[in-house]
Amino acid sequence: MDPQFWRDRWQEGRIAFHEGRPNALLSRFASRLEGRKRVLVPLCGKSDDLAYLASRGHEVVGIELVEDAVRAFFAEHGLAPEIDGTRYSAAGITLFARDVFDVTSAELGAIDAVYDRAALVALPPELRVKYVAHLRAIAGAVPGLLVAIDYPQELLPGPPFSVPDAEVRTHFASVELLAEDKLQGGRVAELGVAVERIYAVTL
Ligand SMILES: C[S@@+](CC[C@H](N)C(=O)[O-])C[C@H]1O[C@@H](n2cnc3c(N)ncnc32)[C@H](O)[C@@H]1O
Repeated sequence: MDPQFWRDRWQEGRIAFHEGRPNALLSRFASRLEGRKRVLVPLCGKSDDLAYLASRGHEVVGIELVEDAVRAFFAEHGLAPEIDGTRYSAAGITLFARDVFDVTSAELGAIDAVYDRAALVALPPELRVKYVAHLRAIAGAVPGLLVAIDYPQELLPGPPFSVPDAEVRTHFASVELLAEDKLQGGRVAELGVAVERIYAVTL
């Protein structure tokens, strides 16, 4: 997607994807990340999942294109981050205000797990293969949790895009479906047919 698309959405406050609380499926299955020290959260927005993962003892590393979203995360959590270029850190949470495709493994350091909610599904089909390959390059073949949505794509243009179970299985070295629920909240949920799934995956 054109980076300006996301900058405009943040500037205009069109961020219905922001749940304002930890994701319900993450809360149910966060124990799957236990023992994994540094968790990468790509395309993290200002998600409360970042603080939730930190509260469970993980070091959290997020990557978010829009710097205002990064600043908003820390401000809304009452944190004054140390800022080094585009790297913001406080309370065990480091956020890179960068395009994920420009971030290298050397900058990130060792990563022990990945958590993706509304990141893979934010990308158009032609970018999704490149995105997962890039995650593998910068994080290594680590385990993680993926929250994806599935709905008839012809009913609405993305993002969020539908990434059905069959496609999820093409992207990762291993895939285990943990649970699925009716999608709640937002215009895709209003279709009444959308499903949200959480998977344990290995990059
Ligand atoms: C659908 S939102 C999901 C945000 C977050 N994961 C959540 O659950 O609230 C997708 C986010 O990815 C960011 N984004 C889009 N393309 C990106 C890229 N190439 N690199 C880093 N962030 C990107 C957008 O600015 C937006 O905040």
